[in-house]
Amino acid sequence: MKKLLHIIATPRTEESRTLQVSQVFLKVFTEKHTDWVVEELDLSNEQLPFLTAKRVDGKYVLLGGKDLYGELKEAWQEIVAHIERFKSADAYLISTPMWNFSIPYSLKHYLDVILQPKYLFRYTAAGVEGLVKNKSMVVITSRGGDYTSPKMHGADFQEPYLRFVFGFIGITDITFINAQPMDMGETLQAQKIKEAQARAKELALQL
Ligand SMILES: Cc1cc2nc3c(=O)[nH]c(=O)nc-3n(C[C@H](O)[C@H](O)[C@H](O)COP(=O)(O)O)c2cc1C
Repeated sequence: MKKLLHIIATPRTEESRTLQVSQVFLKVFTEKHTDWVVEELDLSNEQLPFLTAKRVDGKYVLLGGKDLYGELKEAWQEIVAHIERFKSADAYLISTPMWNFSIPYSLKHYLDVILQPKYLFRYTAAGVEGLVKNKSMVVITSRGGDYTSPKMHGADFQEPYLRFVFGFIGITDITFINAQPMDMGETLQAQKIKEAQARAKELALQL
């Protein structure tokens, strides 16, 4: 069985606009791909390890080309478990609202935990090399405002950031579905959710 890791970065459940789109994607995807399982990682219910001074020391040990040892290795157990869980997936679905023009802190915290040298990337003479290869990702977002017009592009730090950060570790096959605007009137919201759900269905059938 192949695994789709569904990373959820909204604390809202039934009320979530993002998840209303993701649920359509998952329904069609699982109906079509019966050889795939979906594993859920709900970041709002996850006790992510804090990056204490000791844990950050570990990052510099790895950046220096050495392996973790002794107390540092112990302090990194939870970090390594999260990295291994991430790497065990064959593809990813991220469900995230826009928060303050970017991503919610739970998702940033998760990225700070898993993006580690030797595990997800390494520096070589030729530059950085992402170590997560041949994996694809779908990112479903929802936003209160509308960032589709060229004059609003500069305020969208969410899609460019996620594309860059995942590209950095080797994931470049990324498709975004952005439901927007969600907070500029109920009629528009209902219409844009429907449009995003139609795209999600189409994408799940294409994959
Ligand atoms: C803390 C917080 C910050 C937000 N910041 C933005 C923002 O910068 N730009 C925007 O367009 N919408 C912003 N919103 C609105 C959400 O992106 C929007 O309501 C989204 O649909 C919520 O998704 P959800 O229902 O899946 O949680 C913010 C909402 C919250 C709760």
